Amino acid sequence: MQALAQAQPNIALVKYWGKRDARLNLPATGSLSITLESLWTRTRVVVEDSLEADTLSFDGRPARAAQTERVRRLLDDLRGRAGSRACARVETTNSFPMGAGLASSASGFAALVVAATEAFGLALDGAELSRIARAGSGSAARSIFGGFVEMHRGVAPDGRDAHASPLLAAEAWPLEVVIAITSTGEKEVGSTEGMTRTALTSPYYDAWVAGSDADIAAARDAVAARDFGALADVSEHSCLRMHALALSADPGIVYWNGATVEALRRVRDLRRSGSAVFFTIDAGPQLKAVCQPADAQRVADALRDIPGVVKVLRSGLGAGARLITPEPLRASA
Ligand code: PMV
Repeated sequence: MQALAQAQPNIALVKYWGKRDARLNLPATGSLSITLESLWTRTRVVVEDSLEADTLSFDGRPARAAQTERVRRLLDDLRGRAGSRACARVETTNSFPMGAGLASSASGFAALVVAATEAFGLALDGAELSRIARAGSGSAARSIFGGFVEMHRGVAPDGRDAHASPLLAAEAWPLEVVIAITSTGEKEVGSTEGMTRTALTSPYYDAWVAGSDADIAAARDAVAARDFGALADVSEHSCLRMHALALSADPGIVYWNGATVEALRRVRDLRRSGSAVFFTIDAGPQLKAVCQPADAQRVADALRDIPGVVKVLRSGLGAGARLITPEPLRASA
């Protein structure tokens, strides 16, 4: 049995930062995101009785032991549901750099869940796929769906209510995202370590968690009304608060470099001069500028101009994780 799936990264506008249960990977806050269109992860899962262990490769190269272990735990869950003891060969490829704050874990675990569910002969609904993806990476729960997506923090100790759900289809409000890549290296502090350190040491952690519900509600209203200015305000506010929180950990976590800060200023200048654009930044130095399509070229040109910006990518909003028909795994989009 084998299956091939594709998923795209998503960018959180209202951020998730902190876990209410580390073992089950349950978020301390909800979040709200947009799923991208033109960046992707493709993952093939081949289930074979003859395999002695699960294997994982990225672009044909074996993954690190810790990465394989995270995937094995997720496969164990699906094996349990399918009543199977067979191991799986997982081959994955990304159209963009991994581990650099471009949400490769989100698209990676979302594609894995969809492909592996099919390869083990299971049929699960979107909420269940989202719960399983969440166990691998919190943000992956959102990439199961396309367009505008809300992740529910949930209150149940077993995490049954901690899954994402779709808010608005990509076509219903076609925004564009311009990504300024300022470094292609792997980030120094991974999100799980960063969240744990922040929760343990930041004096502002409780205030962050307490403020999250209001941000989600404001963003949800802005999406429902297609109110760009309101979405811009709450998104920049959530991003800056998340980074202020990381900075206030001990030792402090600085995800930005000089070009990130310059790009942020440039986006603010553009917005002040009338462009419909706002910024957001995740656990890495890349800046994502979300804009109306009419402003995308101006934003891309302005960001490309900044010293230290090594590449500018553009993407519309796209669909959720899905099976795709077999084709050479390394074909470009
Ligand atoms: O899902 P993780 O463990 O990669 O954490 C994601 C954290 C942020 O990207 C910074 C915020 C978010 O909500 O995606």
